[in-house]
Amino acid sequence: MKRIGILTSGGDAPGMNAAIRAVVLAAHHHHIEVIGFYHGFNGLVCEEHIAMAESLTLVKVNSIIHLGGTILKSARCQLMHEEKGLKLAANTLNAHNIDALVVIGGDGSFSGLLALKQYWPGQMIGIPGTIDNDLDGTDYTIGFATAVNTGIEAIDKIRDTADAFERIFIVELMGRHSGHITFNVGIACAAEQVLSFENFPVDDQQVRLLQLANEIKTAQKNRHGSYIIVIAENLWPGGAFELAKQLNKQADIECTACLLGHIQRGGSPIAKDRILATKMGVAAVQAIISGETNVMVAEKNNAMHLIVLDEAIKHQKLVSKQLIDAQQNILALTAQTQC
Ligand code: F6P
Repeated sequence: MKRIGILTSGGDAPGMNAAIRAVVLAAHHHHIEVIGFYHGFNGLVCEEHIAMAESLTLVKVNSIIHLGGTILKSARCQLMHEEKGLKLAANTLNAHNIDALVVIGGDGSFSGLLALKQYWPGQMIGIPGTIDNDLDGTDYTIGFATAVNTGIEAIDKIRDTADAFERIFIVELMGRHSGHITFNVGIACAAEQVLSFENFPVDDQQVRLLQLANEIKTAQKNRHGSYIIVIAENLWPGGAFELAKQLNKQADIECTACLLGHIQRGGSPIAKDRILATKMGVAAVQAIISGETNVMVAEKNNAMHLIVLDEAIKHQKLVSKQLIDAQQNILALTAQTQC
């Protein structure tokens, strides 16, 4: 008989609750108790660790599949970068007789798990939960699909007002250092420009600014109406507001900047995330029963796999070339269209 510990860590993602629920249900099916630790790794490093943990009953997870956020709360935990914190975490896990720890989170959370390996001998399983979709070995991470939908809904609304005023908007999207959200939202919203790390590296800011200004002006010669530029966060120094200011000052192009920000992290998970999270939660428990450790559950081509944790955090999963090419072709056509 095993005892599983579970926590959610880093940026919360819609579907984390669905994953918690699946782990608890699958574990109970095998007569395994699940202890939930609160506030990410803080629930492990806190000296009064008893107060930060709770046995997760079936009743506790009965009605959470539709909720955004995470019932276990989340946090980023500085102490997990220090020996003191890692030893405290190991002590807490031992005090609770935990055999296997499941962490739902992104690359930072998995780095915490890998660091803990030196101090705690139990099984460690990662479940990819981040809106950024920037973990390797899995086609999608939990929360990404909902975040993309949220971005689309928001930009559709921006489109209405942009159309009404024939305005140019620059909308900044999350994703940390990856362009998965930006590309997917941009294409689905028929954005006139998608600016991301993959297609618009800001190696020379001035050159890029002039390129963008020329493209906007060319498009405006041919057509009137709204013009939406989506941009990945951390791409342009100073972000969307700074880019809008520079376009105005240096090219006399008036733009309205808009930051979607944490709206993208919230909301009820859409079907795709609920289902992915449920499959991954069940797979995590199966991995524990099979004696696996230091792995992340992943879905590739509709089948569940286990990926070594070190491999999952290499940041090699690129936005598909097909998507980048599609945007490029559409951009060329949009610029030529006379309206
Ligand atoms: O990793 C998820 C994410 O939302 C990123 O897209 C973003 O860069 C970051 O977290 C924001 O973190 P915080 O909420 O700590 O500001």
